[in-house]
Amino acid sequence: MRNYTDDQIKIVKAKLRNYSSNFHDNFKNIENFIKKELKKIEKLKEDSKPIIPEIKFKDILDKDISSINDILNRGCVIIRDVFEDSCINKLNEELNHYIEINNFYEDQKKKSGLDKYFSDLKSDKPQIYGLYWSKTQAEIRHSKEMVIVKKWLNNLWNYENSEYQVFDPNRELVYADRVRRREPGDDTLGLSPHCDAGSIERWTDINYQKIYKDIFADNFENFNPFDAKYRDRIIEFESPAVAHVFRTFQGWTALTNQGPNDGTLQLIPIAKGMAYVLTRALLEDVPESELCGSKLGRALSVNNEYHALLLKGLVSIPKMKPGDTVWWHPDVIHAVEDKHLGKNYSNVVYVGATPYCKKNLDYTLKQSKKFLEGKSPPDFAAEDYEINYKGRVKLDQLSNLAKKQLALIKY
Ligand SMILES: [Fe+2]
Repeated sequence: MRNYTDDQIKIVKAKLRNYSSNFHDNFKNIENFIKKELKKIEKLKEDSKPIIPEIKFKDILDKDISSINDILNRGCVIIRDVFEDSCINKLNEELNHYIEINNFYEDQKKKSGLDKYFSDLKSDKPQIYGLYWSKTQAEIRHSKEMVIVKKWLNNLWNYENSEYQVFDPNRELVYADRVRRREPGDDTLGLSPHCDAGSIERWTDINYQKIYKDIFADNFENFNPFDAKYRDRIIEFESPAVAHVFRTFQGWTALTNQGPNDGTLQLIPIAKGMAYVLTRALLEDVPESELCGSKLGRALSVNNEYHALLLKGLVSIPKMKPGDTVWWHPDVIHAVEDKHLGKNYSNVVYVGATPYCKKNLDYTLKQSKKFLEGKSPPDFAAEDYEINYKGRVKLDQLSNLAKKQLALIKY
């Protein structure tokens, strides 16, 4: 891992402060915006209205969506009924079977501890499974429904600018990720609020500095989180379990019923919330060589010490049914509830949106080799559980579209 010295952080802070005519006033302006957004969220709560915009899969097919502005402002959306319940119930059972016949739990005990991304997470039972190539995951990732959903999500972004086309919103590559199976009573998986897609990179990387220039340069009102320019060009510090792809949205598909208090996802549904985190770090009460607790190679930290205001906006997503999906922008701060107080397993398959662009293609080509060998994808700890697993999806079972999405053949 490349080292980043205290002095370098001091230099970056001086540079970013200089973008503004008065970085205190600039922060105040952003803080006021956040306060207004929090009031809107509070009002929705009082009125028992959905805070996270919700649409149905059928609305996408019918091109009947009136809440686009809400989705852009909140930076997240729930898309319901993407898959039929019966189809998902069957896939959930097949995943159970895959885990059992391959003695995954015994394997996992032998190899646990390889994944250090969420280093505070201490667990002797797996809740997130290092499985990537089950039939269940493949069927969801490569489904025709996902093609429709991801095209629609990708097209919410500005993907073209005067210099170049950042990505093709209508061609999707596939990023193999894990599954979550959270058992009732589990209290080991809670994840404190964070962002993926870069921690200190968001201040130090030259392309992130361009992406966020409007925020630092007193031009917050014009910052558009859905402008993709340079998002494909950021360079992450090398670290296990840090994503090396550009996701227009992170997301998951529910395999079982789950709601608030079932150990589910929480979001701060403010698409421009990152501006608060970025400019907060420039204030003088933060030690000059620190960035509000964010550390290299870890998830970006959002904490009570520095971001108490923003954290007031953290809400649990509503009840999800099998086949419902949730999606959030890569700048949207999210967390996982500490405890699963419900009675049933809450299972999800992680599927994000990774449109066709050079960054994503480069990664997918590396990933495709791992697929052929049945190994863990390059972004994840090399646990390689599935090499000899029965029922692992193989090349000859893939459709032509799936092969394109995995960069095994040309689009
Ligand atoms: Fe995350």
